[in-house]
Amino acid sequence: MRPASTAPDASGESGFLPWNTASIGEAEITEVVDTLRSGWLTGGPKAARFEDAVRERLGTEDAFAVTSCTAALHLALLAAEIGAGDEVISPSLTFCAAVNAVEQVGAEPVLVDVEPLTHNLSPESVAAAMTPRTRAVIAMHYGGHPCDLDALREITEERGLLLIEDAAHALGASYRGRPAGSFGDLATFSFYANKVMTTGEGGMLVGRRELVEKARLLGRHGIDSSAWRRHGSRRTAQYDVVLPGLKYVMSDITASLGIHQLDALDGFLARRAEIAHTYTGALADVPGVVPPHVDDDVTPGWFLYAVLVDPDSAGLSRDEMAAELAERGIGTSFHFQPVHTLTHYRALPSRPLPRTEYAGERLLSLPCYPAMTDADVDRVADAVRRIVQDRVRGGRAHV
Ligand SMILES: Cc1ncc(COP(=O)(O)O)c(C=O)c1O
Repeated sequence: MRPASTAPDASGESGFLPWNTASIGEAEITEVVDTLRSGWLTGGPKAARFEDAVRERLGTEDAFAVTSCTAALHLALLAAEIGAGDEVISPSLTFCAAVNAVEQVGAEPVLVDVEPLTHNLSPESVAAAMTPRTRAVIAMHYGGHPCDLDALREITEERGLLLIEDAAHALGASYRGRPAGSFGDLATFSFYANKVMTTGEGGMLVGRRELVEKARLLGRHGIDSSAWRRHGSRRTAQYDVVLPGLKYVMSDITASLGIHQLDALDGFLARRAEIAHTYTGALADVPGVVPPHVDDDVTPGWFLYAVLVDPDSAGLSRDEMAAELAERGIGTSFHFQPVHTLTHYRALPSRPLPRTEYAGERLLSLPCYPAMTDADVDRVADAVRRIVQDRVRGGRAHV
């Protein structure tokens, strides 16, 4: 593992093991300093370099570096001219960003159920929710495990719908040997602080050239060329606005981090996979704690290592398990509180989402990130095992 200057052993001196910590190396810091000294801070040569590197890695036609995955999702819908009167299908077991973006463009989110094992968007639920107003499907790769992309591609192509991959969790993951994020008409990535690689805040929109070009225009106020092209080469300061756009451009300071985090990504992913493998072995015989399922034809990115805590067999609920781990100095997280249960979205037309509700109450994300030592991983697995053993011995589980 390369040196990580801001994240030594994850549990550090405090003994508290956070749910997540970024690994930032010297190369990122040197590149940021170089950018600060270069005189060009906003989106320019470094953002273009970062875009090229992501585009080449994924094999997509184009890539646009933006301020967040949320911005990329918003631009994706705007570029596809999705708006009032349109419906967009999304899983409810997701982060609110995609569903908020659908409402922001004036369209209606249609929240559907997930697969029981992978917690990914269920193709059958998508097919059942389609109406003549459906324009797009947003497929979120839960925890970095790719969705059934062949099935989703087939359904969307048959109906002429846009397939957007919300690949916030899935940079570096693959489905049948091809990178997640290269299947959709468009795909969005997040470089938020807790993601498999990070720029603090940041995102990328990739996909079909004409759609990404339109998004690029919309993400730069609707001005038909970048400031770098206008001023950087000392051409002209004049500009024209051809569409009412927004401002979502990634700065070169941010891209400086992204360039070197991307170089380190394969190492990060290998360590995440190693940790996941250790957990799955160590937790295999713990009653009521179900390790994540992996389909045969995918390589997950392991953004999340989310176990299902079944209270009947484990003797305690997911929330109780999280509280007991916290008492032992171990941070965890929940992914996700289903969107249809959030205040604003309770007003949406309801449909039964039994698998979403089942998973939403039971999924617990354990710490899984490169800065963890082997001792950190063992500590978490031992704690989970002991917590369940105590409950089972205490007679609170039905085993
Ligand atoms: C599935 C999913 N989509 C989108 C986002 C939004 O990402 P960002 O914070 O970069 O806007 C997140 C953030 O965690 C996410 O989990």
